[in-house]
Amino acid sequence: MSLSRLFNPRSIAVIGASRNPDKIGHVILRNLVEYGYKGKIYPVNPSANEILGLKAYKSVLEIDDEVDVAIIAIPADKVLEAAEECGRKGVKFLVVITSGFSEAGNEEGEKKLVEVARKYGMRVLGPNIFGYAYTPSRINATFGTKDIAVGGISFLTQSGALGIALMGWTLMEELGMAALVSLGNMSDLDATEISDYLADDENTKVITIYLEGLKPGTGKAFIEKMRRVVARKPVIVIKAGKSTRGSMAAASHTGSLAGSSRIYEAAFKQAGVLEASTVEEMFDWARAFSLLEIPRGDKTVILTNGGGVGVLATDAAEKYNIPLIDPSNELKNKLRKVMPWYGSVRNPIDLTGGALVDNYVKALEILEESDEVDNIILLYCRTAVLDPIELAKTLAEFKKKLSKPIVAGFVGGADVREAIRILNKNGIPTYPSPERAVSSLAAMLEYRRIRSRLGGVA
Ligand code: ACO
Repeated sequence: MSLSRLFNPRSIAVIGASRNPDKIGHVILRNLVEYGYKGKIYPVNPSANEILGLKAYKSVLEIDDEVDVAIIAIPADKVLEAAEECGRKGVKFLVVITSGFSEAGNEEGEKKLVEVARKYGMRVLGPNIFGYAYTPSRINATFGTKDIAVGGISFLTQSGALGIALMGWTLMEELGMAALVSLGNMSDLDATEISDYLADDENTKVITIYLEGLKPGTGKAFIEKMRRVVARKPVIVIKAGKSTRGSMAAASHTGSLAGSSRIYEAAFKQAGVLEASTVEEMFDWARAFSLLEIPRGDKTVILTNGGGVGVLATDAAEKYNIPLIDPSNELKNKLRKVMPWYGSVRNPIDLTGGALVDNYVKALEILEESDEVDNIILLYCRTAVLDPIELAKTLAEFKKKLSKPIVAGFVGGADVREAIRILNKNGIPTYPSPERAVSSLAAMLEYRRIRSRLGGVA
């Protein structure tokens, strides 16, 4: 069954929609309502007549309408019966929030849940999850933050608590999300199947996954399926549980096989999945993928007003395998005209600490025109003569004329933070350090290589 109705349901029932505002079932219902889901919402609670102004139903069977998705947030011992009723009702997807299944030794209960679902042709997300969200349909069926920034990043997570925490963090960082899926025990729907669906989702530009481990015996299928996903969309994974103690912690957390880190690294490589080493790095890269088109080539220049950050970026470019071009004499001559005589026209192109907005704009116009350049790393250090916000606003305007991918590293204090915000809002992925900007472009170039290697797989 296609997952389309999970992400674009016509109606959602919340089974266990509590009247108590502090309970999980209530929070999910409230988030659904307040985030603005436009389909029908049916609270199910045998003891209530109305919750949050919506008519409540004693059972899902009482609902006089088709139900595409049922969110289940009642104690584990009641889940099977509710699942049966959903099956009889013709529900298509069960989103089972409830804990107390295989992660807690109740393999039997989880097996039965999947059996019930199979019997009626339903698919199961979970159990043991915080829910899911899909911003294009204004679905926030989670008990995380009420608001979710809209954008092109889809995030699948095997850790619920981390996922919820990252909902707040991505909101603060203004990282725009498409889908957000808590994977939990992956009793039925797993990371590969959801990624496969999202690879064809027009609102998803990049898929990010927090993974603790795969189920035993699914490694080969993971590689094969992920290769087909990666041929269509970039996938970034952060693999937790790489250390010996970490892998034991993962086993008791989600019951997955954390396995040797080398095996996972090899599997990700074969699958063409990009592996980030920290959550911050994963979202840095995801920001770039969500804002930019995949680069057409890898010839790169660094444009800076600070020698130091230029050198740091150069070191990082070498470390991350980004080819920095040696500009031709023709290009150098053009650049000389837009900077002080003591600037540098080599790569990094150093406009010097005296650079003004106009120097940046003119240099960018030349780089945009030049066949020698595919990508631009733009760096800025706070100086007394150049207001970062003025530069950011001008670059945001200039971006409309720019066809080449540009990533930026802006270094400085509070006003630089604001400039970074403006740039990110206007489609230029911008970071508070040169290395993070370089690393993000490097991830895109790596994906470009992977995709051309996998070409035709999809
Ligand atoms: N159908 C519909 N509603 C029912 C049913 C039923 N069969 N049975 C009970 N209800 C109602 C209850 O009456 C109650 O509503 P009320 O408060 O208005 O009376 C509501 O459903 C909830 O039932 P409770 O028995 O109060 O259950 P509670 O909310 O305490 O717990 C829960 C349910 C949250 C699913 C719990 O069992 C659980 O699993 N918690 C963990 C969830 C979790 O953490 N998931 C992983 C997320 S990831 C992470 O790390 C955070």
